[in-house]
Amino acid sequence: MAKKLDLERILKNQGFGARKLCRIMIINEEITVNGEMCDDPSAEFELENLKFTVKGEPWEYREKSYLMMHKPSNYECSHKTQHHPTIYSLLSHPLVERGVQCIGRLDEDTTGLILISDDGQFIHKMSSPKHKVPKIYEVTCKHPVSDDQIAHILQGVQLVDEDAPIAALHCTRVSDNVIHMTLAEGKYHQVKRMVAAISNRVEALKRIQIGELQLPQDLAVGKWRWLTAEDMLKLGVK
Ligand code: URA
Repeated sequence: MAKKLDLERILKNQGFGARKLCRIMIINEEITVNGEMCDDPSAEFELENLKFTVKGEPWEYREKSYLMMHKPSNYECSHKTQHHPTIYSLLSHPLVERGVQCIGRLDEDTTGLILISDDGQFIHKMSSPKHKVPKIYEVTCKHPVSDDQIAHILQGVQLVDEDAPIAALHCTRVSDNVIHMTLAEGKYHQVKRMVAAISNRVEALKRIQIGELQLPQDLAVGKWRWLTAEDMLKLGVK
């Protein structure tokens, strides 16, 4: 049988605040469900394909949240930031209320693709070293990148505090100073440390792909969108 829930609980589960607050919004006629206003907090609805609006803003019921963001520079990937605003301030408030987390962190000056979810299993799968989900970075270096430097990155570089040398899975030159580097791990400042180890320096860093999922050209800096079923397949999740 299709799963049903009362409207008050639906709104609470979806991140619209405590039950009391949700009840008040419902009674105040601020909610529509599947196109019709509902002022009864205990009215039950099937959750599948449920569409509702809260104060005119459209939402769909989602058991879990899976999204991608184009992270801007000068934003931090933690909830409690020190020097810059948090990337969570760029999300709709109900998502933050639901407790979404970003999957792996990008440095404050790194831009590009970041995944965000409130599904613990998904977060674990995408971030666990065991799964080795490859990530591609576009790296703008201070000095032109030589063939020897690329060969070195592919052979493996020794980083301070690491037991063994670490190699990129792939490394290709895009222009004199720009390379694309594919990494299987996500160690602290890994790209910057690897580039420093070949006597060069990162001037700009952008993550352009996770698994087979590319940062969409039309996702503007600072914007987010829901992951589609096709995106999930590209991440190796069915
Ligand atoms: N490697 C880095 O050095 N910084 C990032 O933000 C991501 C990978």
